[in-house]
Amino acid sequence: MAFKVVVITASDSGYAGKREDLSGEKVIEICQKNQLSVIKKIILPDEAALLSQTMEQIADQEEADLILTTGGTGLAPRDCTPEATLAIADRMVPGFSEAMRSLSLQITKRAMLSRGVSVTRKATLIINLPGSTKAVDESLSYIIDQIPHALALLKNQKQASQNHFEK
Ligand code: MTE
Repeated sequence: MAFKVVVITASDSGYAGKREDLSGEKVIEICQKNQLSVIKKIILPDEAALLSQTMEQIADQEEADLILTTGGTGLAPRDCTPEATLAIADRMVPGFSEAMRSLSLQITKRAMLSRGVSVTRKATLIINLPGSTKAVDESLSYIIDQIPHALALLKNQKQASQNHFEK
């Protein structure tokens, strides 16, 4: 069965309907190409409490195996997605964010401005992606092939150990 994904776009202007959510659509497109089933896309303003509460509910109600956020990872005053994610985290999974920044730095030095984090809460993996469609494409495409194995391990599924030494 395909893993279930919720996509959250953190954007004041997207939430106000002033900007089309192309980044959220790009996340969905990449997930679909990689057999990850997006069950919902949500647009929220850059409000830490709301972002935390939404992610917490999704994880605690086992609604999704994976939450992918896009936006709000930079240094603008309203950017708070990493703080909202850390506030509800059980464990850090720094490798995904390190890998995305590492690959992205080969494309643009601006990649060092993304403060995105990756964490788990209960059996849900949460990964912050930067906000532009270009950044989503570059970052998510690089890590996505490792996500199914990470989710299988998180969920303690048998095939995880069988595939453990692959890749
Ligand atoms: N990562 C990649 N791969 N490509 C990019 O173009 N843009 C950067 C960075 N990460 C970028 C990237 C820029 S310009 C910013 S400001 C930060 O992501 C934070 O973006 P956000 O605040 O929209 O999340």
